[in-house]
Amino acid sequence: MKFFVDTADVDEIRELAETGLLDGVTTNPSLVAKTGRDFKETIKEICAIVDGPVSAEVAAIDADGMVTEGRVLAEIASNVTIKVPLTFDGLKACRTLTQSGTMVNVTLCFNANQALMAAKAGATFVSPFIGRLDDIGLDGMELISEIRMIYDNYDALETQVLAASIRSPNHVKISALAGADVATVPPGVLRDLIKHPLTDKGLEMFTADWNKTGQSIT
Ligand code: G3P
Repeated sequence: MKFFVDTADVDEIRELAETGLLDGVTTNPSLVAKTGRDFKETIKEICAIVDGPVSAEVAAIDADGMVTEGRVLAEIASNVTIKVPLTFDGLKACRTLTQSGTMVNVTLCFNANQALMAAKAGATFVSPFIGRLDDIGLDGMELISEIRMIYDNYDALETQVLAASIRSPNHVKISALAGADVATVPPGVLRDLIKHPLTDKGLEMFTADWNKTGQSIT
């Protein structure tokens, strides 16, 4: 399973990239607005830090506008992935952009039929939003399983399932169990994936016992 980080915060990305655990980055207009920085400059900086796909979302909502913006963003670096919404126009733009060799992440996916259509449009990634479905009392995890099942039924559908709107380590675990290809995870949740109180407690004990031996390994 690949891990992307869901943020436009360049410092966070730099720090997480140093762990070697990062396979890519996703941003969205809300995350960009949060930084208060220039969008294209931010994407350029992120692409210089991370080799994997870096999602940059278009602002236009008509197909021609999305294609025009997508081409401008794709010029920034070869790993830019254009994010388009899961609308009729978004899928038209997806087809045009993928046909010219640009990676596309179709975002705001909330049901299995939408994911099927994104794959038919040649999307590189589809982003089902788990947390936002859970927020309205539906089951985000069930959606990931359904998409996985549908894509596995047809060899011609090569779109990768990118679990998005992840809010907790449990969302990551269930995405992995359901066979998501990628999880895009907020920095805080990514750090939490590594933590366990028994790990901390065990390490404390081992360190104390080691110190009692008075030895040094180096
Ligand atoms: O980047 C898309 C997605 O991950 C947004 O998550 O938490 O705003 O629903 P959230």
